[in-house]
Amino acid sequence: PMTVSRVVNGSGPVSPKLRTRVEKALKETGYVPNSVARNLRTKRTDTIGLVMPDITNPFFTHVVRGVEVTARAAGLHLLLTNTDQRPDEEARMVSILLQRQVDGLLAIPAGGCADTARMCHDAGVPLVIVDRRPETAGVDVVRADAEGGAYQLGQLLADLGHRHTAVLTGPEYVPTAVDRVAGFSKAFEEAGLPTPIVRYGDFSLEAGHDMCRQVMQEEPRPSAIFAANNFLAIGTQHALEELGLRIPEDVALVGLDDLPPEMVTFPFLTVAAQPAEEMGRRAVQLLLERIKEPEGEPQEIVLSTELTIRRSSGDPVAVSA
Ligand code: RIB
Repeated sequence: PMTVSRVVNGSGPVSPKLRTRVEKALKETGYVPNSVARNLRTKRTDTIGLVMPDITNPFFTHVVRGVEVTARAAGLHLLLTNTDQRPDEEARMVSILLQRQVDGLLAIPAGGCADTARMCHDAGVPLVIVDRRPETAGVDVVRADAEGGAYQLGQLLADLGHRHTAVLTGPEYVPTAVDRVAGFSKAFEEAGLPTPIVRYGDFSLEAGHDMCRQVMQEEPRPSAIFAANNFLAIGTQHALEELGLRIPEDVALVGLDDLPPEMVTFPFLTVAAQPAEEMGRRAVQLLLERIKEPEGEPQEIVLSTELTIRRSSGDPVAVSA
């Protein structure tokens, strides 16, 4: 039995000859290791959970890619759940993952993270918050400096001569939606320029389309728009096309989160891009550290965004009145 256990679990030396005999017998008997029994002994499932808000968004799928590759390299399986940006769904998913005895949990919170943090703490399961700044202190976090990226986009448009602008962003209960408004508005405040019009919707094409139609009714009409995520940028383009407005000739457009290069034939959107796969990789690495050292000092890792200037932000404009 010890020899078979060593072969099945790779938990000790076995001579090649004996290994071959055991592997042959396992194959002939159709033996499948019982991971539940093994887990009871080791108190580990070699599984981590990931809670994410929108499985259709390529930004998140690239985060998941970084998570999955890094988890697999560490011999971990990944249980992935989608909350559709709903805090009540998040609580349900976290509960299911904890019942599955995950060794650790990664969460991209639908809104705040206090409930998820409390559930993981009570279950003694390490947690790393990803992408969205937590409202509670003492939590491990890996996110991008989206506020800094939005600030750079605001500076770019201010330097191009835009005075009247608009920000189309996600829900007010999502930290990244709020942080982007703060960063973009700070650039205009520092330049002594009018405060941008702000519209909170959700991170969707439809919201981008509808909010763009709204802000283009404002007087003076914005000469530039900041769409705070990839879907909002696409929805904004649809609306401007409906209005017969050209980008950037009539309205400059900048976005946060690039569109996946594999999906865009002629990239033209000026963006501040978050390092999505790197975010996923670093989150798993931090979670592995926390699994090893549950009492370790919580860390906040903030990754830089990357500004890519393309055609949609246009050339300098004559300063509007
Ligand atoms: O697309 C959804 C947005 O919210 C992304 O920019 C991501 O940062 C998330 O927080």
